[in-house]
Amino acid sequence: MTDKDQTTVTSESSAGDGSDALKPSGDALSNLLHEERRFEPPVELATNANVTAAEYDEADADRLAFWAKQAERITWAQPFEEVLDWSEPPFAKWFVGGKLNAAYNCLDRHVAEGRGGRVAFHWIGEPDDDTRTLTYADLKDEVCKAANALVELGVRSGDCIAIYMPMIPETVIAMLACARLGAPHTVIFGGFSADALSSRIQDCDARVVITADGGYRRGAPSALKPPVDEAVSRCPDVRSVLVVRRTGQDDIEWNGERDVWWHDLVDKQSTEHEPEAFDAEHPLYVMYTSGSTGKPKGILHSTGGYLVGTAYTHWAIFDLKPETDVYWCSADIGWVTGHSYIVYGPLANGATSVMYEGTPDTPHKGRWWQIVQDYKVTKFYTAPTAIRTFMKWGAEIPAKHDLSSLQLLGSVGEPINPEAYMWYRKEIGSDRCPVVDTWWQTETGMIMISPLPGVTAGKPGSAMKAIPGISAAVVNDAGEPVERGSGGYLVLTEPWPAMLRTLWGDDERYKETYWSRFPGRYFAGDGAKLDEDGDVWLLGRVDDVMNVSGHRLSTTEIESALVSHPKVAEAAVVGAADNMTGQAVAAFVILRESAGDGGEDVVAELRAHVAKEIGAIAKPKTIMVVPELPKTRSGKIMRRLLRDVAEHRETGDVTTLADSSVMDLIKSNLDEGKTADDD
Ligand code: WT7
Repeated sequence: MTDKDQTTVTSESSAGDGSDALKPSGDALSNLLHEERRFEPPVELATNANVTAAEYDEADADRLAFWAKQAERITWAQPFEEVLDWSEPPFAKWFVGGKLNAAYNCLDRHVAEGRGGRVAFHWIGEPDDDTRTLTYADLKDEVCKAANALVELGVRSGDCIAIYMPMIPETVIAMLACARLGAPHTVIFGGFSADALSSRIQDCDARVVITADGGYRRGAPSALKPPVDEAVSRCPDVRSVLVVRRTGQDDIEWNGERDVWWHDLVDKQSTEHEPEAFDAEHPLYVMYTSGSTGKPKGILHSTGGYLVGTAYTHWAIFDLKPETDVYWCSADIGWVTGHSYIVYGPLANGATSVMYEGTPDTPHKGRWWQIVQDYKVTKFYTAPTAIRTFMKWGAEIPAKHDLSSLQLLGSVGEPINPEAYMWYRKEIGSDRCPVVDTWWQTETGMIMISPLPGVTAGKPGSAMKAIPGISAAVVNDAGEPVERGSGGYLVLTEPWPAMLRTLWGDDERYKETYWSRFPGRYFAGDGAKLDEDGDVWLLGRVDDVMNVSGHRLSTTEIESALVSHPKVAEAAVVGAADNMTGQAVAAFVILRESAGDGGEDVVAELRAHVAKEIGAIAKPKTIMVVPELPKTRSGKIMRRLLRDVAEHRETGDVTTLADSSVMDLIKSNLDEGKTADDD
């Protein structure tokens, strides 16, 4: 979440052979041992909380009436006629017949209702003293100008626009300008490579790309335009590249036919732009994420349900008081967390947010806590991997800052281990602030399972219960609900407003991936356990998806990247438990005969190759060159055994191996040290 070069973290990893998917790993086990520990909500927070326990009953009594009521948070240009059309599952239509404009809901109505002077973003650049304050009125003007500029570039409603940007205000402005025009955006995280960028641009048929010359990371400019140039050279349909000048690097390549500076085109535009109302089901954005097979999936979110779902959850789970709160979500806008809980949810609610461009250790390891102190942040949302990093750096660093403004702490991206939860609660929240561990996914669009800060007595390590209006269950292989005290698969049993509508251009894969394993129910891909109180403990992915620093990576995608290197004959990738990043990418490769022993730098070469193919975030932490891979008689790689090796354990049951000597070969390689650890 905070560092594109950081590799990994998590509790239970992918299990390609399925056999051990539901066995809790070390962290999950220690979670289970701490079940009895609970923290009651602080009295003051509970007394004034936005949501009380009655809301669960209200939503249970009539789920659709509950969501219709939440839809009043949104200003509809035309009211909806039906809350949910589920006549052709799994294709949902929410708020049928309703029309709205997402940008209008995030900006104009706040200005029209007298909130234009409220700060929308306290933006903080990485270089010291590089800050910008944008009120709702400022942001509305900037978004109108950008929308007018996009119209000048020929953008019409329905056109998809790719955004590849650092964490600067123009990124939010670009997204909302697209939303204002009904042009779905696809934001691609700045840590992805030119190859990943071009395949996404092609998949969603984007004709316009919005980028910047670069952004600041670790005190230095990090270029973004070169990968865009490389990507776009393979996308003949891209006609314009709109470039924000952020770092002012002077060696930037320029294609006069195609490239246009933001300041040349946007600054001169009018601040007037009439927003058009779009159907509630009009596509708002596509976000690519990794699945168990190679090709990333374009998760499609539509307008009405998504705004209702993100606005409600942001208000309920962060107990948002828009007049007084200063809210900070440390995610990158390139991920769904940034979309839902930096942009759409908070802005729809008229919240004041902090947005920070850089890394947590620039210019010093207390930068985040300095920001909390300077801006008097009240609600803070981050990822376990970041918390563990701060734990490693030491509690004396946050202790140097005044964190007394904080009232609530959130966590997202992976299971939070009890040690990290306790540290977060104590060292950041002075034991006063409730911690909300929020489970959700790119696909769900909104938080689904979480404590409610004024209601729930939280348990360190548990995401607790589905929030009001959401129905989840833990089921066994046969799809039957498990008993309390047992583990199984997490499913969502009813549609929800911010749910994905399909996979971009691939309805079949949408059905197959999410709705076929347990017919009629959405399969999240996560293992979970119900404790004796019926609270949910997430156990990690049960498919070939890894979770590295809260980012989803596919084993198959990295394997394909490795195999595309001329020296590699075969590759197997597993997620190995890692103290800092949850899981780390561990790769096993067989070299081609023509490559000999690969040469001295083969490991570095392969890591660089993966970075080029996918992005720095996907670089394996370890690569081991092996003579063979462990396979079943039917030829399936037994990832479970490789994970044992990667996690330095005795290998488990090898009786289903086609050739039982393989593991000995791999282990002798390990002993000879023919492996490389990155850091
Ligand atoms: C996967 C979704 C949601 C935005 C960030 C990641 C894991 C997420 C939690 C949590 C346990 C969690 C799950 C999920 N996950 N939050 N609080 N506790 N696991 O979005 O890339 O779509 O990944 O992240 O495994 O399926 P994503």
